[in-house]
Amino acid sequence: MINAPTIILVGPMGAGKTTIGRLLSQQLGREFFDSDRVIEENAGADIPWIFEKEGEDGFRKRETQTLRTMLEEDQAPVVLATGGGIVMREENRELLKTQPLVVYLFASVNQQLQRTSKSNHRPLLKQGNPKETLKRLFAIRDPLYRDVASVIVETDSRHPKSVSNKVMEAI
Ligand code: S3P
Repeated sequence: MINAPTIILVGPMGAGKTTIGRLLSQQLGREFFDSDRVIEENAGADIPWIFEKEGEDGFRKRETQTLRTMLEEDQAPVVLATGGGIVMREENRELLKTQPLVVYLFASVNQQLQRTSKSNHRPLLKQGNPKETLKRLFAIRDPLYRDVASVIVETDSRHPKSVSNKVMEAI
C-alpha cells in the first residue's frame, strides 16, 4: 500500500472526488491535488472565468496539459482528483489507461444533482436545466469512466469514509 502508485479519481460532478481525495491523502500520507485547482493556479483565474474567456475548448486544453504534467513519470505518487469532463478527450483517456490505479467514483444523476445544487462555480450547470445537463453528460461519460477505470466504487449509499475505505481495500 505504501508503494501504491498515484491514485486518480474520475467521475461526474458531485461524485465526491475532492472529498474522497482528501481523505485518501490523509490515510496514505500523500499529497492531494485537484486538477481544477491546479488549472486555476496556473491560469491565475477561476474556472468560470476560463470558460467565459477561453470557452470550454480552452479549458479542456488546460486540463489536458495539467493531466500530462501531473502524471509525468518522475513525479512522486500522489492522490489526484480530476474534473468530471477529463474523459471527454481521447488523448486524456489514452493517458489514463496507462495508469495503474484509476478509480471511478460512481454517483447516480439524482445524487449528482443533490451534491452540486449549492455550488455556483460549475459553468456547465449554469446553462439550462441542471438535471437535464447532468443526465445528458452522464449518458455520454459513464461508459468513458468505465473504460479508463480499474476500480469502480459506488458512492450513493456510502458515507465518504466508507467510500475511501473501499478505495483503500482496492489498492
Ligand atoms: C466539469 C467538471 C468540473 C470542472 C468544470 C467542468 C465537467 O469539475 O472541471 O466545471 O465537464 O464535468 P468537478 O467534476 O470537480 O465538478
